[in-house]
Amino acid sequence: MKVISTIAEFKQARREVGDSVGFVPTMGYLHEGHLSLVRKARAENDVVVVSIFVNPTQFGPSEDFTTYPRDPERDLALLEKERVDLVFIPSAEEMYPSGFSSWVEVENITQRFEGAARPGHFRGVATVVAKLFNIVEPTKAYFGQKDAQQAVVIKQMVKDLNMNLKIVVVPTQREPDGLAMSSRNIHLSPEERQAALVLWKSLELARGLWEQEEQNAETMRQQMTDLIQKEPLARIDYISIADPETLEELTQINRPALVSLAVRIGKTRLIDNITLGTGG
Ligand code: PAJ
Repeated sequence: MKVISTIAEFKQARREVGDSVGFVPTMGYLHEGHLSLVRKARAENDVVVVSIFVNPTQFGPSEDFTTYPRDPERDLALLEKERVDLVFIPSAEEMYPSGFSSWVEVENITQRFEGAARPGHFRGVATVVAKLFNIVEPTKAYFGQKDAQQAVVIKQMVKDLNMNLKIVVVPTQREPDGLAMSSRNIHLSPEERQAALVLWKSLELARGLWEQEEQNAETMRQQMTDLIQKEPLARIDYISIADPETLEELTQINRPALVSLAVRIGKTRLIDNITLGTGG
């Protein structure tokens, strides 16, 4: 496994490998969720590239950029075990040298949920992912369903800007009790960790209602709200029941739906989602 921190060196290494390159962009502090993407990439490509970069431009001024967990040594050991070929781990100066002034804005679908709660977030994500795609030149790139809106935004960008690669979306990996794996879970105290289960419980409630053929989105949202409000450590940011592709809110659940939510548990903001009616 080759670990590279400059763009010039990475481009050189890229020239030496073939046409089938699977790429997994990450911000590090890797867990089984990230590794499931790496394994899928390993199974489908000759060469596997992982990037580790805590991208400053996707964090708002009052967000957790400085406290975002980091452990590059542990990450590299995990990636070595997964037989990753190249790891790209640039500095912030390498990615954003002084004078940097070009940005990728994906409109409309970035205005809702995470975009509404975190202004500028998807501009940072789309810009860094576009840069990484230009540096890595992958044939396939892997994203988690955990960040459902992010995957939709990246697919839109690839389509609109005629980027030459395939986006593969991988199912959310969960702890045995249902909590979606996330680098941010490390911030939860034991009490908060227990309270955080309310996200998964509310999604299970939504699935149960859907299985009973509940079609009213407002009823579903209200029942989820009631359940989460019973948890004193939880504060709802949003609950959405939307079309999985356009992210338009639904009033009637008579077609596939993405049920997604963001909830603050103490100081930690967690997101999760499920899809209904897509077999996912
Ligand atoms: P990060 O949060 O590190 O996530 C990297 C990738 O792992 C994303 O595609 C994310 O959806 C996926 N992932 C995270 N938790 C997962 C889980 N429990 N199950 C399955 N996949 C999971 O997302 C980012 O980084 C950044 O925004 C990035 C795309 C790297 C751009 O900076």
